[in-house]
Amino acid sequence: MIAHITGIASEPGYTVVENAPLQGRNTFRVPARAELLIDVSRPAALPGLFDLAALKNGKVLVLGAGSNVLFTRDWPGVVLALPALGIRLLQNRGDAALIRVEAGENWNDFVHWSLGHGFVGLENLALIPGTVGAAPIQNIGAYGVEVCEFIDTVEIFDRAGAKFTRLGNADCAFAYRDSLFRRTPGRYLVTAVEFLLQRARELRLDYAGVREELAAMGIATATAPLVAEAVSRLRLRKLPNPAMIGNAGSFFKNPVVKDEIAQQLRVAHPTLPLWPAASGHKKLSAAWLIEACGFKGLREGDAGVSSQHALVLVNHGHATGAQIWALAQRILQSVQSRFGIALEPEPIVI
Ligand code: EPU
Repeated sequence: MIAHITGIASEPGYTVVENAPLQGRNTFRVPARAELLIDVSRPAALPGLFDLAALKNGKVLVLGAGSNVLFTRDWPGVVLALPALGIRLLQNRGDAALIRVEAGENWNDFVHWSLGHGFVGLENLALIPGTVGAAPIQNIGAYGVEVCEFIDTVEIFDRAGAKFTRLGNADCAFAYRDSLFRRTPGRYLVTAVEFLLQRARELRLDYAGVREELAAMGIATATAPLVAEAVSRLRLRKLPNPAMIGNAGSFFKNPVVKDEIAQQLRVAHPTLPLWPAASGHKKLSAAWLIEACGFKGLREGDAGVSSQHALVLVNHGHATGAQIWALAQRILQSVQSRFGIALEPEPIVI
C-alpha cells in the first residue's frame, strides 16, 4: 500500500511520518509500526487529506491516546491522530451549559476542568485514561456512570461523503462500552464532543467502594470534586497504572446474559457478582470468572494478568501484542469451557 501513499507530504495542519513506530502511542507499550502516521492538528485539513487517493479508500486507524487498543501486528495503512485542543462554553441553558471540547483534549483534564467550573456529573469518570475524542467511541464508564449521559452532540468527519456532520445523542446508538462509532470502525472520525453539564445534580455514590472511600477520607458531606478524588484513589489502588506498567484497562467486557443463565451460574457459584442489565438480563463480573479460572497474577514471559485486577492484562516490559493476545485467547477458552460464557475483548485488537 505504501506505493499508493507516497506523495503525501506534511502540510500546514498536519504532519506525516513514514514507517512510524507506535510503541510510544499505545498504553500497552507493545511494538508496532504504521506505514504512515498523520497527526492532524487542524481538523479543517481533513477533507483535503481524505481527497488524496491513498486515504480515500485505504485502511485508516484513528488513534487517540492509544489506551484502548492492542497491536498484535503492524498497521498496513495510515494511523491518524487528532491532537486538536480546546474547551469552550458554547451556551448557558439555565442551570446547565453546553460545552464543546476538541477531540485531542485529555479526558481526565476535562473532568477536572468541568469540576473546577462548578459542573457536576463527570466526577465518577475521573482518571479514566484517554482523550475526549475516544470517550464516545466505547462509551467510557466507571463507578455506575457512563459518558453517554452527558453527551449532547458528537461532531464527526464522515469518510463516506468526506464531510463534517453532527450527530445528536440518540443517533450515536450508545450502549454498554459500545456505540455507532465502534460498530463501524474506520468510517467516522470524532473531531469534537459537546457536553450538556448541570451545575447541580444528585451525586452517584451507590457503586461498591465509593461511600467507603469517602468515609475513609473522613468526608461526611460529599461534593463532586471530593467524589472525583475518592474515585481516583480507588482507581489508583485497584487498577494497575499505565504510567508504571503497560495495560489498557479492562481487557474484557462484563458479559451480559439471560436471567436463567445468570441464575444457574449463581446457584453453582454463590459468590459470583451479578448486576442488573437490560430487561431479562444480568451483567456478570468478568474479573470474577477470570480469577476463578486461576489467571489472576499469572505471568507468561512478559505478558500477564494483573495481580491487582483480574480483568486487566499487562505488559511486564517486552511482551509483544501477539503474546498478550495469545494469553487473552487462553483466558477466553478457559472461561468458555468452565462456565460456558464467551468473553468479548474491550479494546480494539489489531
Ligand atoms: N473482582 C474479582 N477479581 C478481581 C477484581 C474484581 O473477582 O481481580 C470482582 C469483585 O467481586 C468486584 C467485582 O469484580 O466486586 C467488580 O470489580 P470492579 O468494581 O473493579 O469492576 P469491574 O466490573 O471489574 C468495571 C469496568 C471498569 C471500571 C470498574 C469500576 C468494565 C469492562 N470494566 O470493572 O472499567 O473502572 O467497573 O466502575 O465494565 C475499563 O473499562 O477499562 C475499566 C477499567
